[in-house]
Amino acid sequence: EHGLSAPDYPWPHNGILSSYDHASIRRGHQVFQQVCAACHSASLVAYRDLIGVAYTEDEVKVLASEVEVQDGPNDEGEMYSRPGKPSDHFQNPYPNEAAARFANGGAYPPDLSLITKARHNGQNYVFALLTGYREPPTGVSVREGLHYNPYFPGGGIAMPKMLTDGGVEYDDGTVATESQMAKDVVSFLSWAAEPEMDERKLAGFKWILVFTLALFSAGYYKRWKWSPIK
Ligand code: HEM
Repeated sequence: EHGLSAPDYPWPHNGILSSYDHASIRRGHQVFQQVCAACHSASLVAYRDLIGVAYTEDEVKVLASEVEVQDGPNDEGEMYSRPGKPSDHFQNPYPNEAAARFANGGAYPPDLSLITKARHNGQNYVFALLTGYREPPTGVSVREGLHYNPYFPGGGIAMPKMLTDGGVEYDDGTVATESQMAKDVVSFLSWAAEPEMDERKLAGFKWILVFTLALFSAGYYKRWKWSPIK
């Protein structure tokens, strides 16, 4: 069964020449880190990917060094943990899927690296899902351990409502309302799923510019070449 279809929200980066809102990506990373990362991985993202996108290189070094990374085997064949480096990827909250399911009543919190691409209408869906928790309508009941959310296929989701006003501490002083956090985390996840978007749009624009100039000069040359014959 399909969930309720999500509204179309006016994402600032949707325009053909619009770039991401990088301040929003930065806040969205803070939402991800402070809330979602407790249960979800985003294992395709490396800390250094954030350099020049949402943080400076020095900030990223600090961010990475604050996580504990499992590494090894070393020369003695042992596994060990060490502080993270910018080249490390985001860490998984659970050692494996069984542990993740065990901690979440049997449900699996998917990796969020590509979620905005993997789900139909992904950005709008994730925003609507995060802000869509409601009391079930009269006559509708959800199974024990599930939470009513009309945007989730089936209407009952194992993930509880995660975002409530003030749930996150933003370092730029933005007031962390529920919808602000949902918007920012979707900006972050959209960037994670398509980090090359800004460059792609810029490159596309340059090609169009160059081809337009080439077209006009070809047109002019043709008229010039044929002018004695007319
Ligand atoms: C599922 C996002 C925080 C547990 C999901 C889904 C999304 C999502 C997009 C997938 C829905 C689908 O499959 O279509 C987020 C975001 C979070 C967050 C953006 C932070 C703001 C958390 C936290 C937990 C959690 C902290 C654990 C306490 C789960 C579980 C599922 C899930 C168990 C699977 C639900 C099911 O299959 O019924 N989440 N999540 N999530 N999430 Fe989260």
